[in-house]
Amino acid sequence: MGEIANGHNGDWYEASEEVVAQAHIKDWKAVAEGADRDFVGFWEERAKEFIDWQAPWTKVLDDSDKPFFKWFVGAKTNIVYNAIDRHLKGARRNKLAMIWEGEKGDVRTFSYHALNREVSKFASVLKALGVRKGDRVTIYMGRVPELPIAMLAVAKIGAVHSVVYGGFSTEALHGRLEDSQSRVLVTCDGAFLNGKIVELKKIADEALKRSAAVEHVVVVRRTGHEVSMETGRDMWWHDLMGLPIADPKCPTEIVDAEDPLYMLYTSGTTGTPKAIVHTHGGYQVGIATTLKYVFDLRDDDRWWCAADPGWVTGHSYIVYGPLILGATSFMYEGAPTFPYPDRWWQMIEKYGINVFYTAPTAIRGLMRWGESWPNRRDLSSLRLLGSVGEPINPEAWRWYHRVIGKGKCPIMDTWWQTETGMFMIAPVPSMPLKPGSGTRPFFGQQADIYDEEGRPVKDNEEGFLVLKRPWPAMMRTIYNDPERYVKQYWSKYPGVYLTGDSAKRDEDGYFWIIGRVDDVIKVSGYRLGTAEIESALVSHEAVAEAAVIGLPHEVKGQSIHAYVLLRHGVQATAALADELKAHVGTEMGPIAKPEEISFVDSLPKTRSGKIMRRVLKARAQGLSEGDISTLEE
Ligand code: WTA
Repeated sequence: MGEIANGHNGDWYEASEEVVAQAHIKDWKAVAEGADRDFVGFWEERAKEFIDWQAPWTKVLDDSDKPFFKWFVGAKTNIVYNAIDRHLKGARRNKLAMIWEGEKGDVRTFSYHALNREVSKFASVLKALGVRKGDRVTIYMGRVPELPIAMLAVAKIGAVHSVVYGGFSTEALHGRLEDSQSRVLVTCDGAFLNGKIVELKKIADEALKRSAAVEHVVVVRRTGHEVSMETGRDMWWHDLMGLPIADPKCPTEIVDAEDPLYMLYTSGTTGTPKAIVHTHGGYQVGIATTLKYVFDLRDDDRWWCAADPGWVTGHSYIVYGPLILGATSFMYEGAPTFPYPDRWWQMIEKYGINVFYTAPTAIRGLMRWGESWPNRRDLSSLRLLGSVGEPINPEAWRWYHRVIGKGKCPIMDTWWQTETGMFMIAPVPSMPLKPGSGTRPFFGQQADIYDEEGRPVKDNEEGFLVLKRPWPAMMRTIYNDPERYVKQYWSKYPGVYLTGDSAKRDEDGYFWIIGRVDDVIKVSGYRLGTAEIESALVSHEAVAEAAVIGLPHEVKGQSIHAYVLLRHGVQATAALADELKAHVGTEMGPIAKPEEISFVDSLPKTRSGKIMRRVLKARAQGLSEGDISTLEE
């Protein structure tokens, strides 16, 4: 990925006077200096500025039990109070909170008043189903309005949501249900994507055969195709919402700032995916501040974060962040190129979107269709653009800037992670930009690049990206595995947060992300772990062993390559390779399907039996294998 991230260091894009004049943060240097001097004070001010609290904190940051940091200790709150309840008093009650368009062009809109009604009703339903504070509820849905509604309803009653991306399949869902021990699953009959139906309920049924804890399944009817409903367990969303139990008066449960809000599974260095835990208090401060500062959201803006709500980007910046700021958030159900490659541009024109946020993989994919598609649409409402998920190559950056932003919209390249909850390295609109760099650490944060021993490297040298200060939206722990939290993130360099990325910093203090240094693969911006894909392969009867690596890919950023050792006597054929790809698709999900499968007689391993993926990767790219003193094939 190195060649993608290494942009043109000398290539500056200065913000225009107009942009600076309108920006929320005009003198970013002064704000940066102030926040650097007193980051705790900076966050305390933001907590007062953007958030309402039911009881104040006694301490802003408690670091007495590092790395288990606590923020706004003693404060009482609920993120839903800030996202919805407080907007119901004044004129905002009638403002659109959410505009939604389906792939077929059907439209639904929710004012803050209407959103509150739906959320409150579903919160009452959940209570009637026995969901209590602290209980986990798994949400496995397509991109429909009921997805954010379900999330908000769970949070409103102090329960904890665990959203599983709708592109995942049986085994992935099953593992996440098991680990979270959710008693309720909210899903859909199916989802529309690319003109086809993804059979969510059918996949859920398969996963449920193996998951004992789930007592109730609530099913949203979206596609209308026939699904099987198990009596006593499965209920239709619209039936429940029509019953008296769906009481529109449901008080928001006021919780401790440090009470869990949600968990979100993500793949890390080794083993099965783990659930990152975020809390109500600090998280809301972090996401509201970063969204306001970086994307400059104004009251009359229409904001479109084109991510999937099932990933952290959607949690922080489709659902919670925009609502806390009282903005209008747009959400689209389908794929960007269906039925035509101008589907996205058409909706920017139709809804007059002002700020648009997407991933480099989407830009690269849409670039291929040429300029004529965006050019036939009026994109003049756009003021700011954003990028997230992987390094953006300078070519894609320039195309995005010139063709979509018409040369007048600064691009906010935001680096962050599921674990960080909020943007960590990102510009503000008044800052000069360099294509391909996420610029500087967000206000109050200090990032650095370390070598193996924990010494800061020189400018423009590659090393491990670390974060040196705690921040309010930081993960609090790994669900059920606090030891892993300490080991994975805080042990390589004690007291310093290890991101898992390699990066460089240039002579201007700008950061350039290179890519993951662990076993995480980023396919089209989606974060996948090699371990999960390998275990899906090995679950096929023909496979004895498998190793998976990510290789550079022009559009997807990275693509999955699998090395498979077959069981004795099994013939390696092209048909079997296709079958194995399909198998991974059914077990894990279509995004995890290997691009290529190579059948091998042996895998490079260390003497202790660990597969050396680094060696496979080097071989595949014709690069030096590096230090292979521990190799035993
Ligand atoms: C990568 C997504 C370069 C990085 C919000 C990180 C990026 C991982 C950027 C987290 C960016 C995210 N430039 N790389 N702007 N944003 N990444 O948890 O490798 O799905 O560690 O969170 O995505 O992925 P996750």
